[in-house]
Amino acid sequence: MNIRTGLTLAAAFAAGLAAAATVDERIEALIAKMTLAEKLGQLRQPSLHDDDGDRPLREAAAGQLGSCIWHAVNPKLRNAVQRNAVEKSRLGIPVMFCMDVIHGEFVTFPTTPGLAGSFEPELLERAQAAAAKEAAAHGIDVTFAPMCDNAIDSRWGRVIETCGEDPYLSALCVAAQVRGFQGEDPSAPDRIAACLKHYCGYGASVGGRDYNDAEISLWQLRNQHLPQFEAGVKAGALMVMSSFNTFDGVPAAVNRFLLTDVLRDEWGYKYSVVSDYRGIFETIAWGYSRDLPDAAAKALNAGNDIDMHGEVFTRGAEAAIQAGTLKLATVNEAVRRVLRTKFALGLFERPYVDETALARVRAEAPATKKVALECAEKSIVMVKNDGVLPFGERPLKVALIGPFGIDPREYIGIWYSNFELAHATSLADALRRELPAGSELKVAEGCSTGCREWTIENDGTATRHAAALAAKDPSLIAAALPLVDEAEVVVMAIGEGWGWTGENSSRCTIGLTGAQQQLFDAVVQRAQGKRIVSVVFSGRPLAIPEVWAKSAAVFYAWQPGCEGGTAVARLLTGKASPSARLTMSVPESVGVLPVNYNHPICGRPTNGSYREYPRAGAAANRAWGTVNAKYPFGFGLTYTTFAYSQPELVHKANGGWAVKATVANTGKRTGVETAQLYVRQVACAEGVRPIRELRGFKRLALQPGEKAEVVFELNDEVLGYVDRQGRHRCDEGAYKLWIAADSSAGSEVELDYRR
Ligand code: GLC
Repeated sequence: MNIRTGLTLAAAFAAGLAAAATVDERIEALIAKMTLAEKLGQLRQPSLHDDDGDRPLREAAAGQLGSCIWHAVNPKLRNAVQRNAVEKSRLGIPVMFCMDVIHGEFVTFPTTPGLAGSFEPELLERAQAAAAKEAAAHGIDVTFAPMCDNAIDSRWGRVIETCGEDPYLSALCVAAQVRGFQGEDPSAPDRIAACLKHYCGYGASVGGRDYNDAEISLWQLRNQHLPQFEAGVKAGALMVMSSFNTFDGVPAAVNRFLLTDVLRDEWGYKYSVVSDYRGIFETIAWGYSRDLPDAAAKALNAGNDIDMHGEVFTRGAEAAIQAGTLKLATVNEAVRRVLRTKFALGLFERPYVDETALARVRAEAPATKKVALECAEKSIVMVKNDGVLPFGERPLKVALIGPFGIDPREYIGIWYSNFELAHATSLADALRRELPAGSELKVAEGCSTGCREWTIENDGTATRHAAALAAKDPSLIAAALPLVDEAEVVVMAIGEGWGWTGENSSRCTIGLTGAQQQLFDAVVQRAQGKRIVSVVFSGRPLAIPEVWAKSAAVFYAWQPGCEGGTAVARLLTGKASPSARLTMSVPESVGVLPVNYNHPICGRPTNGSYREYPRAGAAANRAWGTVNAKYPFGFGLTYTTFAYSQPELVHKANGGWAVKATVANTGKRTGVETAQLYVRQVACAEGVRPIRELRGFKRLALQPGEKAEVVFELNDEVLGYVDRQGRHRCDEGAYKLWIAADSSAGSEVELDYRR
């Protein structure tokens, strides 16, 4: 090697060493130069729309736009705002552009309660990687996802954003989504930062009422609500969002136990926290903060760094510093974490989005839609089938009735980000394509979905629908009924209108919306025993006993995304086979909520139900205790049948334990079965443990007659729990174990676990 090369390499090494070491040094150097106003500017996050005029440009040039909720979604505008921050502001700190990309950007995937029901976390990783690519091309740096909250009460409209009621499955799906969004290198041009939300305990809002108090014990918080976030932090998420609820009487936005003791001191999280929308300001309404300076001090002292939309720091922090309730060092620490997130995103090195990327990514939509179709087919749960499905190859006369059959907007859900409706196919159009040649399809809307007072159209305009729609319903129902007479089978496409679910959409009756129950009852009466197949589209588990009872078959489709219509049609005809499982238990009625399967067994497990339900002793309460679920967590049918052997313990030569069982395809068609491992610690001195807890699963594709042995390792991680101090623990002693088809099925085997 000649001297010149040597010198060049040495210089490169030194530069590299300097570059590698300077992220922290660069942060400190910036903080040392920043004025208080510039520091507080990094901690504010207003919305940014196309029609904001030059306000964003001015704020960026003044170093007052740390980050924004990027509603504009226009790469050119993003680069213009960014150029003002990087090239005109005093210190050139880039802006972070954030948006809710929950289940897709232009191409929409199924909402997550369905997607998690695939029991295939890597599928969520693929879906979110595709969403990240589209969002990044739009100029988005951070998505406010994955939502990690635990779904307990389906009166709460936001169950639609969760991965269901089980912490173990949710944690796997959260980590997979973080990997999907961020990849190995979140600074790559087709990756975006994940923001874990809503931290923490939001899913336990009392009465399912949004933005409400959450009364949970520390024991429940540790074992039902925190594991999903811990998994997301371990997966490397670059942001966390505090939630609207309180924990232990303290609003999460200013809860030091959550934001510092657990998130940072226990888990070592070193990036930024953003409050949910005005959540810091709302601590005044909660009656917890006295005024803006008090709210600013409480939030920053607790460890909340970015004030989304509240302008509390810019209006209250300086007074708090003067009053001595807030130290400048605390402000510096918040700025440090925000800058760390920006460096990790590569914004200092690559602040601008490639404006040609959008066209390239749009051209990839057909490939992305293939992923969306696979996701939809694997997220739609068959909960009933008397044999009417699959339709098969012979020509058929089908009547498709119901508003969800014709309007694919209903498959997209409430967090539609920047979806493009052109990618969506209605069930009617899909059936026209997928039904066997020679079939006849007649379609009727039947009635509206009974939209709420207003509906946000795809172009963002809010139109008043409710009264106008309801006026037409009686005539729509009448017009639909003659179709029943000519059909061999009736497909009802019914459910909960997309505008009825999501944020600020708690419901105290969880039935079909609008006049759909009247429509269903009228069709049943007209059908006079003709078979009805119901496809239920909904953002939450519904209590619809007549639909369960009077349908020959039922698909629970959740909100299956742009390819939902095609997926349902392929499942109905048998071109695809159902394999999805329920991630939330479906209640018998709204009055029995909550019905999550993983509840403590209680002191009188043979009682505890409601007088309205017969209490014929233990048998009536099935293996999962005293709740009344029509269909339990983990349940889902396929087009074949499976049998499970009695689980057997395996004591391995190395002293370790395992449990195994044989699963057989006892039907006539190939099918995918998800064998699930449930555990129960019989006696735990730390606290009562749930009657069952999912701790493993395996998806098995089996031919008719084929068998497979499933083996699950048993160790501290599989059997253990988290104690109140946050320690992962596992006690020796008695455990019951199941390898079963769902949370209420299977026979148990007892293990005396010794290390
Ligand atoms: C909303 C939601 C949160 C979302 C944020 C930004 O209030 O609670 O999930 O990410 O505002 O849109």
